[in-house]
Amino acid sequence: MRFSVLTVLPGLFDCFLREGVIGKAVSSGKVKVNVFNLRDFAFDKHRVVDDVPYGGGPGMVLKPEPIFRAYDHISERYGKPYVVLTEPWGEKFSQDMALEFSKREHIMIICGRYEGVDERVKSIVDREVSIGDYVLTGGELPAMVIMDAVIRLIPGVLGNEESLRADSFMGKGLLGYPNYTRPAEYRGMKVPEILLSGHHKRIEEWRREQSIRRTIERRPELIEKLIKDGKLSGEELRLIEKIKKEKSV
Ligand code: ADE
Repeated sequence: MRFSVLTVLPGLFDCFLREGVIGKAVSSGKVKVNVFNLRDFAFDKHRVVDDVPYGGGPGMVLKPEPIFRAYDHISERYGKPYVVLTEPWGEKFSQDMALEFSKREHIMIICGRYEGVDERVKSIVDREVSIGDYVLTGGELPAMVIMDAVIRLIPGVLGNEESLRADSFMGKGLLGYPNYTRPAEYRGMKVPEILLSGHHKRIEEWRREQSIRRTIERRPELIEKLIKDGKLSGEELRLIEKIKKEKSV
């Protein structure tokens, strides 16, 4: 899989692409990432990439020409990409979207900046994506968030496939269960007895119950969606009823 990133701040991606799981995925060639400086596609000697908005108003707008030229260059070099534009008012990024993106061969991410991009750029954009209802200074962090969530889904990137399956939101779509490691007691806080028992079946049941409890408490709308979509077993549905009843008394 390949990412082509278009940004006015290419240096921001250096550490991200060098360190940790993502760094390894890049250096082993499991993912190819090219970061392009939008200014390299400007055609005047000052390498201007933005301009004042027609009709007046505050801020600057990213000009269309450098973006189209970069798109043509990237398409010629690596084949036509699926184009994602980061914008605070785009479609909300989710695990489902990450999974969908991880199956694509080549994604180009255009990092939005300033007040936005010239609307004509949308003619080459497949998806406008927001990472949440807050406004950042630019689309670089959103681009990294999207790439991180997608790259870790590429087969072979995470050593332990099991950790993927146990993930919050993955598998069934429930939140993760509480985890503990040694020591068994720290500052008076004890690890739940069941986890020390070595009883694998009971541990699995305890974890499932914890996962369901957490999801009911923190993200009740996820539980309602799982029920509506028929994703839960009879046993899980009974557990949910039990927990809800406990909470109502
Ligand atoms: N650009 C600025 N804020 C953003 C957000 N929340 N998501 C995506 N792109 C953005």
